[in-house]
Amino acid sequence: MVHKVQKDMLVSEFCGMRFDTPLVLLSGCVGFGEEYTRVKGFTNRDAGAVCLKGTTLEPRLGNPPHRVCETPQGMINAIGLQNPGARHVVDEILPTLDFDETRFIANISGSSIEEYAEVARIFDDSPIDALEVNISCPNVKEGGMAFGNDPDMSARVVEAVRKQTEKPLITKLSPNQTDIQENARRCIEAGTDAFAVINTLMGMAIDIEARAPIIGNNQGGLSGPAIKPVAVLKTHQVYQVCRDHGIPIIGQGGITTADDALEFLIAGASAVGVGTALFYDPLVCKKINDGIVAYLERHELTEVSQLVGTLVLNG
Ligand SMILES: Cc1cc2nc3c(=O)[nH]c(=O)nc-3n(C[C@H](O)[C@H](O)[C@H](O)COP(=O)(O)O)c2cc1C
Repeated sequence: MVHKVQKDMLVSEFCGMRFDTPLVLLSGCVGFGEEYTRVKGFTNRDAGAVCLKGTTLEPRLGNPPHRVCETPQGMINAIGLQNPGARHVVDEILPTLDFDETRFIANISGSSIEEYAEVARIFDDSPIDALEVNISCPNVKEGGMAFGNDPDMSARVVEAVRKQTEKPLITKLSPNQTDIQENARRCIEAGTDAFAVINTLMGMAIDIEARAPIIGNNQGGLSGPAIKPVAVLKTHQVYQVCRDHGIPIIGQGGITTADDALEFLIAGASAVGVGTALFYDPLVCKKINDGIVAYLERHELTEVSQLVGTLVLNG
């Protein structure tokens, strides 16, 4: 049990928002904020913020099954952005969420720049605390390449969303690209306030008897501990671009323990996301929070921000 004084050590500020802990429950892993509260002992209060499931303009039924598949130290998912549409989320779901409990962040998706902008406009006129832009969606009008794989397309999405809102805007960067630093630079110019680093890595698993992909969508996003070293490196690379601009990062990708979370903070993240780990331990956040407090005490630090970006590179 974390007592009150220890808990204060976890309080942090992110884009002007107060986070009770540096943990963020990640998009797609907690539904619309209510999903895990059915698990005994789970509370959104263990997290500084909760990212809601990716939301598009129109409702989407998502992909055919299988939508998830376990892999060594991870999982592949291709849910296909199943969601009830932005209007429904704002009108029917947001009023049911307890905004005193934690911060809620919308995760906005689109198949065109216009769709991203429209979804952002709908959320701007709502009590949501911040907007996270999932730029890993395919650009349907221009050949289906994910917006986030190209710095120019990423910046165009950010620019369009920026025009719709003054709420904190977090751009979720994809690892599936050549130069994540160039992408981050362009998104900063386009007006992002923060980054989430990283989204899933694309992968495939094959049923060798059927000689067919296991996932209905053939390919999907790999998450979980398998991607953690990639995510730590990308977080540090983006931090090198961000630090002079005071732009914070939510580091994520495979965080399962306090030690994992600490790696991301040291690499340059100001907050850390927990996604896949919740599927096999819904109560993992308490353990991660306790572990961070124990580390801070052991190193005679009084708050999480004292750790951020303290990585000392070799040589
Ligand atoms: C089942 C599932 C659904 C996801 N859905 C979304 C989504 O709708 N939007 C999004 O930006 N990321 C989505 N993600 C990516 C996660 O938010 C997170 O960035 C990624 O899984 C890396 O963190 P992790 O290894 O802790 O899960 C999803 C991940 C999983 C496993």
